[in-house]
Amino acid sequence: METVISILKVIHIVTAILMAWPFYALVAVNQRARLGPPLGDRVDTYMENIIKNRTIPCFVFQGTVLVTGLSLVLLRGLGLDALVTNPILGLKFLLLLVIAGLLTYVHTSLQPRIDDLFAQTGSNPVPQEIAKQIGVRRLRRKRIASICMFVVLTVAMLGVQAWAPFPLWLTVVLVIAIGVFTWRAYSSVTPYGWA
Ligand code: HEM
Repeated sequence: METVISILKVIHIVTAILMAWPFYALVAVNQRARLGPPLGDRVDTYMENIIKNRTIPCFVFQGTVLVTGLSLVLLRGLGLDALVTNPILGLKFLLLLVIAGLLTYVHTSLQPRIDDLFAQTGSNPVPQEIAKQIGVRRLRRKRIASICMFVVLTVAMLGVQAWAPFPLWLTVVLVIAIGVFTWRAYSSVTPYGWA
């Protein structure tokens, strides 16, 4: 049983690492903004193709952390009521639902709308009204990526204290640090990694 638990823990943590995509997506879109016009050239096709083809892998990773996380709870002899009696596990579960909801919105509504707008443009230059609509939706997608990044890092930090909770003050300090790092990723190309 210990071996199974060890393997599940490794899968859980490796999957958590692979969920860092929103951070790298923010790096890519911030670099695109630096490049400037024209909108709708091959750079945009390349970037949009990468971004839209990451949503299915993201669903797979979310499903994997859910299954391995719940299995770890059950294999340690606890029932699903641990999601209520252990607030850290409950919070991890709820936050995963939040990012699954956000990803569903991006996949089913926001990204198809951006694709439609690019399809309407046909040739360059992109008409100003369509460019404005693309900009609004891209900004929304970027904000959602930042929320996902903040949530994934917070859930990882909570995972470390799943069985031995940190003092509340330390958790609050770490959440603030994650918030500051997420803000840097949102507003810069983080040339020095952490800043
Ligand atoms: C965004 C999703 C998630 C991420 C990024 C994540 C990440 C992590 C990380 C980094 C650890 C630390 C492991 C260690 O210190 O050994 C951990 C532990 C843990 N996570 Fe998650 N997790 C996620 C979702 C979940 C969910 C949905 C559950 C189930 C409710 C869950 C249950 C657990 C459990 C039980 C542990 C303790 C492992 C053990 O030592 O038995 N996780 N998680």
